Amino acid sequence: MNRNPVYLALDLPRLDAAEALARKVSGHIGGIKLGLEFFCAHGHHGVHELHKVGLPIFLDLKLHDIPNTVAGAMQAIHVLQPSIVTIHAAGGRAMMEDAKAAAGENCKVVAVTVLTSLDGDDLSAIGVNANPYDQALRLADLAHSAGLDGIVCSGHEVGAVHKQWKDGYFVVPGLRPADGKVGDQKRTVTPREARDAGASVLVIGRPISRAEDPLAAAKAIEATL
Ligand code: C5P
Repeated sequence: MNRNPVYLALDLPRLDAAEALARKVSGHIGGIKLGLEFFCAHGHHGVHELHKVGLPIFLDLKLHDIPNTVAGAMQAIHVLQPSIVTIHAAGGRAMMEDAKAAAGENCKVVAVTVLTSLDGDDLSAIGVNANPYDQALRLADLAHSAGLDGIVCSGHEVGAVHKQWKDGYFVVPGLRPADGKVGDQKRTVTPREARDAGASVLVIGRPISRAEDPLAAAKAIEATL
């Protein structure tokens, strides 16, 4: 049986609350995603604490610096044995190659292409004269040719990207269960739809962490997969 592809995004400021939530749902998720906010607040200690839950840890640090510095950062987090680490594809080919070379064998290095917070005007303001979709595809190609494992992409894009990059490892956030009460005005993708379209990892935060009953929410999502 395939392992559960759901990584719970623990975007909670308090370490004890994050650990308690992870323990509560640990039997019904496949891993834990810790972001920059968590890492800046709790560092290696926080990651060690969450490791005690016994699940793979995804460090969503979105690293972006000169190749030597990013490689050094990858070496510094090696001891934490992350299963996945994110870096920015916009850091360029050499940065991605060096990050991958510095990562542990069991660590997937995955590129962020264009942040979903940026629109065409934002890209134009930083001198990028492409729309966000075309820019994302361009950076996905660059990440692929630089030897990364995959990219972060939305549930709307993963099908198209998967066709281009058959053995890619695709991390998909921004998902909402079919019965989701969050974001019901927007066109959403369910965890099942994303998985069927080729997602390797389903990042799910608030639909579980802010549910009245997080355990029931995690079980319900698991049952759809
Ligand atoms: O919305 P939700 O709480 O499920 O988000 C889960 C995680 O996905 C968060 O850590 C958020 O930073 C990340 N995310 C992302 N890109 C998006 C939407 C969410 O990286 N477009």
